[in-house]
Formats: sequence, C-alpha cells, structure tokens
Amino acid sequence: MAGLRAEVFTYVAHALAVAAAVLVLVWCIHFRGGLAFESTNKSLIFNVHPVLMLIGFIIIGSEAIMSYRALPLSKEVKKRIHLILQAIAIVLGAVGIYAAFKYHNESGIANLYSLHSWIGLGTICLYGIQWILGFITFFYPGAALDFKQVALPWHALFGLFVYALAVGAAELGFLEKLTFLEESDVAKFGSEAFLVNFTALVVIFLGAFVVISTVSPNHEEDPHDYTTVADD
Ligand code: HEM
Repeated sequence: MAGLRAEVFTYVAHALAVAAAVLVLVWCIHFRGGLAFESTNKSLIFNVHPVLMLIGFIIIGSEAIMSYRALPLSKEVKKRIHLILQAIAIVLGAVGIYAAFKYHNESGIANLYSLHSWIGLGTICLYGIQWILGFITFFYPGAALDFKQVALPWHALFGLFVYALAVGAAELGFLEKLTFLEESDVAKFGSEAFLVNFTALVVIFLGAFVVISTVSPNHEEDPHDYTTVADD
C-alpha cells in the first residue's frame, strides 16, 4: 500500500475516540441517569466506572500511544507528552476502578468475581509496571544507550499487548453490564442495547486503528531505528 502513511490511521483513530467518548457519555448520562461519587442511588456511582475507563484509561491511553505518530514535534517533547498522557490514563483508570469497588461495597455486592474484573485489574497493574519501567529506562535516570536500543522494541511490543488487554477488558465490561441490564429492565433489541453494543464495536475499531497506526511501516522515521527515540 505504497503512499499510505501512519497518519491516515491516526486520523481515523482520533475520530473513533471522539465517537466512543460521546457514545459512553450518552449511555451513562441519558440512559443510566448520570454520574456521582456520592449518592443514595448507587447506580450513579457505578456509571463513573465505564466513563473513566473508556475516556480516561483507553482513549487517553490511545492518544498517548499515537502521540509519537501524530504530532509534528521534537522527539524529546513527544516523549514527555507520551509519558504524561500515560500517567493521566493510569490515574483516571485507577479512579474508575475505585468507583467500581465503591459501588460494589456500598451495594453489598462481592468484589472481583468476574473474568472482566480479573483481566481489568491485571491490565492496570501491567500498565503501571510498564510505565515505571519506561520512565526509569527512557526518561529518568535513563539507561545506557545500547540498553535503551534493546529495550525500546520490547517496550513498544509489551505496551501494545497491555493496550490490547485493556480493550479486551472494556469489551468484557460492556458485555457483562448489558447482560445484567437485559436480565432486569432493558429490552434486548431496544435502543439502549443497540447503543451499548455499538459503543463496544467502536472501541474494537479504535483499538485496531491505534495498533495499525503504531505498527504501520510508512512513517517519516524508520520505526526500527530505535536510536531516534532512545537517543533523546
Ligand atoms: C480497560 C477498562 C476497564 C478496566 C481495567 C476495568 C476494571 C474493572 C475492575 C477491576 C472491576 C472490579 C471491581 C470490583 O470487583 O469491585 C470492574 C467491575 C466492573 N466493570 Fe469494569 N473495567 C473496565 C471497563 C469497563 C467498561 C467499559 C464497562 C462497561 C460497562 C465495565 C463494566 C464493569 C462491571 C459491570 C463491573 C462490575 C461487575 C464485575 O466486577 O465484573 N468495565 N471493572
């Protein structure tokens, strides 16, 4: 696909990110009654969870991954943007998980009983480890140049693996919540069910375009020339 540049995939990914953010807000605010950290209506506390996990963790994490591909800035600036956005994603993700625990605890529901919760918790722990190792190796204090060159492809590979896990966790979350709702008051073929499934589809495509834009070969720099980043 001569001439097809990584930037094209990032544009699509940005558009999908905006669509996913709007859809999850419409779902949680319009269909589910809104968001709250303190409320007698415990469902509002739960609603904080999908909003922060999607907009905070996955979308900001997606933008952090793509920052190397999308921005016309120096590598030193892009490295800082990457690590700051990833830190914001992890913090917002942690607050989002806290909201799920808070909802469970205040509603008398058990914690960590589902595959979604196991993969979700594992994902954010791996994300945190990945961030710390990346910070120490590439930012402060920074490893020796030859070690950085060896470490960078592994950092990118492991980062994409953890990102894929995060997308998978979100998919399981949508599936689980919609199944709960369909067992109570939500029509299986109603507009809310359609909206949730459609949001989950948009998130899969977002994940795919983020990964494609990252591994896509036609980029202004040689993606295998890791000295370019590691050397900054
Ligand atoms: C990568 C994103 C996500 C991560 C890391 C994640 C993580 C978690 C964790 C760790 C829990 C356990 C809380 C507890 O046991 O008290 C949980 C609960 C839950 N999450 Fe997520 N979540 C994510 C996205 C979503 C999304 C998008 C939804 C969609 C609605 C969702 C729906 C749920 C539901 C229904 C529960 C309660 C039931 C259960 O524990 O499985 N999650 N999540």
